[in-house]
Order: sequence, then C-alpha cells, then structure tokens
Amino acid sequence: MPQKRILSGMRPTGKLHIGHYVGALENWIELQHKYQSFHLIADYHVLTTKTDTSSIYEDSIEMLLDWLAAGLDPAITPMFRQSQVKEHTELFMIFSMLISSARLERNPTLKEQVRDLNIENVIYGHLGYPVLQTADILLYKGEAVPVGEDQVPHVEISREIARRFNNVWGEVFPEPEPLLTRFSRLPGLDGQAKMSKSLNNTILLSEKAEDVSSKLRKAVTDPQKVRRNDPGRPEVCLVYTYHQKFNAGATEEIASGCRSGSLGCVDCKNRCASSLNEFLEPFRERRCKYENDMNLVKDILHDGEQKALQVAKDTMNEVHKAMNLG
Ligand code: TRP
Repeated sequence: MPQKRILSGMRPTGKLHIGHYVGALENWIELQHKYQSFHLIADYHVLTTKTDTSSIYEDSIEMLLDWLAAGLDPAITPMFRQSQVKEHTELFMIFSMLISSARLERNPTLKEQVRDLNIENVIYGHLGYPVLQTADILLYKGEAVPVGEDQVPHVEISREIARRFNNVWGEVFPEPEPLLTRFSRLPGLDGQAKMSKSLNNTILLSEKAEDVSSKLRKAVTDPQKVRRNDPGRPEVCLVYTYHQKFNAGATEEIASGCRSGSLGCVDCKNRCASSLNEFLEPFRERRCKYENDMNLVKDILHDGEQKALQVAKDTMNEVHKAMNLG
C-alpha cells in the first residue's frame, strides 16, 4: 500500500524558536517515519505581508538549518523552496477560480493578522494566502497537514477547494486534514499567549545555553507570587508550561512546590533552563555540523527541489487532463 502523504510548510522568517518546534516541527519529525512527508519553505507567502526580499534567501537557509538541526531527515523527507517549483503558482491561479472573496474575507487567521500588523488595505495576494497554501498541499496530494492551531482555518479552506475541484472536474485531490499537537501554542517569555518573533518574547532553537538561562531568568511568572514563600499558581505560569513540555518527569513535584511556596521562582527557572538546555544541546551540535558544511545544505535543498518538482509535474498533468487543458 502506498504511504500516505503529508505536506506542511513555514514562512521563512529566519531562525526558529521553541514555539515553532512545539507547534509543528516536533510533529513533522515524528511523522516523517509514518508518512511520505514533503516540507516547503513558503517564500512566496512572505510577500503577502512584506515586499522587502533582501534577506529572503538567508532567512530560508536559516530555517532549513533549524529543520535539519531538529531532526528532519533529508534522506526521506524532501525540503524545498516554494518559489522553485513553478507549478505552485499555476495551481494557485486555478484554485482561485473555485472560492469566493467573501469566503476568504471571513478567514479568522487573516482577520487576526490584519489586526496585529495594523493593515489598512488588504492586498489581493494576502486575501488569497490560503488559496496558495491549498496549492502547496494539493500539488503533493497531501492528505494530512501537521500545523499549529492558527492554521486550522486555512486547512478548512483547502478542504473546501479540494471538494469543489473534484465536483467540477472529477476526483483528483484528497481532502486534507490538519494534525495538531497537544501544545500547539507555546506562551512567550512575557506571558503573551503566543511566542512570536515580532513580540520579541522568544527562545530560539539555536539559542546559546547562557542566553536560554538569562532569558528565562527575566520571564514573567504568576504575579501573585511575589516573595519566595508565597504560594503560586502553576496553571497561570508560562515557566510551568515549559516544564510540562521540556521537563515532563518533574512537573508534579514542581507544581506542588510552587503551590505550597517551598519552590521559589528563581530555582524553578534554573531547573527549567537546565532541562531546556539539555533538550537543545543535540540541536546545537547538529546545526553546527551543517553550518560548517554549507555545500551539503545546498545539495539537500537542490535534491528536495528536484523531488518536489517531479511530483508537482505529475499532479499538474492530471489536473490538465481533468480540465481538458492537456
Ligand atoms: N501558512 C503557514 C504558516 O504561516 C505556512 C504554509 C505555507 C503552510 N504553505 C503551507 C503550512 C502548506 C501548511 C501547508 O505557518
């Protein structure tokens, strides 16, 4: 039986943080052994919110380095830039005939971005963001899409477009499903619900050990726990969330120490830093190995792009045939 396909991607914003890892990358790494996975660097999607492309290549490579450092295996998982497989743009154009602008205007992820980035006039391409994303997924006939929860509305749009295409031109595409992780959103160091580069509240996957410790030292905790012996509320503390993720074996003891007041925030943060550093150490080592062999990294990307192109061409042949455009 052929393996099921996965497609997922990220916009290249440079170095990744632990929120990216927890929200998606961790899942990708595990799933690559169960599914045929494709992972794309969504460099065209970057244009939906900025036209400065001066660092787009460097940002893409930094992200690729983090993917490799975290454990995506280039021997089984093609990794490629969206812009290098022209079929994405063609399928995007075709799909844009299958969805109304009113439906795209209702997309909650778009509304959130418009609010967060203070966008006054939404550009045409930004409205079409999920349509391009649908082309990304369906070009590889992705059946499952491992993403963070903010992307679920996009995958819903992808399902609608797949259904519509199949109704109009015949069964070509699967209806993709999102695959979420339990911690699909990691809070930022400032206590905001989301870790994000623009909020400047991140810990990078490639962060030096001493920087992990100093960033955690300044992290916001339960505002009711002022002195060491004050009882705290782990459920409102972001440091506790990090413990749950990166120090899972000790969470009960940490929660009860926090509640009773026997564990102070300084000690709690030190313990969190050391487990996080232990967790990140193999990533740092692998990243360093790849950084010292950039020719290998370029070969990995080239190889991924060739593999993606092959699949993309096959799908477009089917699409052309189904539409009588052959
Ligand atoms: N929109 C995704 C994000 O911002 C990136 C993305 C582009 C993507 N194409 C995709 C995710 C296809 C999943 C599948 O994170």
